[in-house]
Amino acid sequence: MPIIKEISTEPVLGRSVWVGNCIQEVFEGACDSNAIAIAATSWADLDADNYLRDGGRYRRRRYAELAYDLHTSSLTDLKRNEFFQSNAYNHVNGGTRRFRLIDDAFLQSPLIQKILKHFSHRFATALGVASLELFLHQVRILGEPGINGLPTPEGIHKDGVDFSCQVLFGRHNLSGGKSIIYDNEKNPLMTATMLEPLDFYCFRDPDIYHAVTPVASEDGIKTGTRDILGIEFCVRRERAES
Ligand SMILES: [Fe+2]
Repeated sequence: MPIIKEISTEPVLGRSVWVGNCIQEVFEGACDSNAIAIAATSWADLDADNYLRDGGRYRRRRYAELAYDLHTSSLTDLKRNEFFQSNAYNHVNGGTRRFRLIDDAFLQSPLIQKILKHFSHRFATALGVASLELFLHQVRILGEPGINGLPTPEGIHKDGVDFSCQVLFGRHNLSGGKSIIYDNEKNPLMTATMLEPLDFYCFRDPDIYHAVTPVASEDGIKTGTRDILGIEFCVRRERAES
């Protein structure tokens, strides 16, 4: 199945999975490469993920939560740094995890705002709702010489959200990192490897399972990196502020 090179404004598996590149899909071919390069530098300032129960040091990250309003096409930063994932969805690293908030200048940049609003509009419309909650995961996976990094240490899984989108911002000196989409019986349906900046894949989480293969340093000498912005979309639900 497709390596991510085709642009798909249409879902590639029924209404469940989309692959493409944001430069065409979101910016209609007119995207400032300098803005992409500036955004990509933000991955140099992430923190070690100390919640990996396998003791690995291959993941660095920051986190943000936003609220999207369809009528005003606006995003509000909720300034929450606690990410909760039930053990039913993440049996390896579930529970409440706290991360440093994503840099405000990155979040508010026109490039990131346009990507977030594009997919938010699409998914709010698909779900027939006026607002969505977004969970943003700015993640770097390291492939160190002799030590593979695991993009999905929980293996084949669901994110436990309504829609999910992975956008690549950088991939350097790296092998592996192939995304695999499965049906709900965990039969593989397609694979896609994001290679170029702003390659993406999105999926309707209840319809599929997914996983990403381990990454390794390509030259075996220097550390390889895979920089992803993971965006999860949930129908917004009221909850008590603590
Ligand atoms: Fe996932």
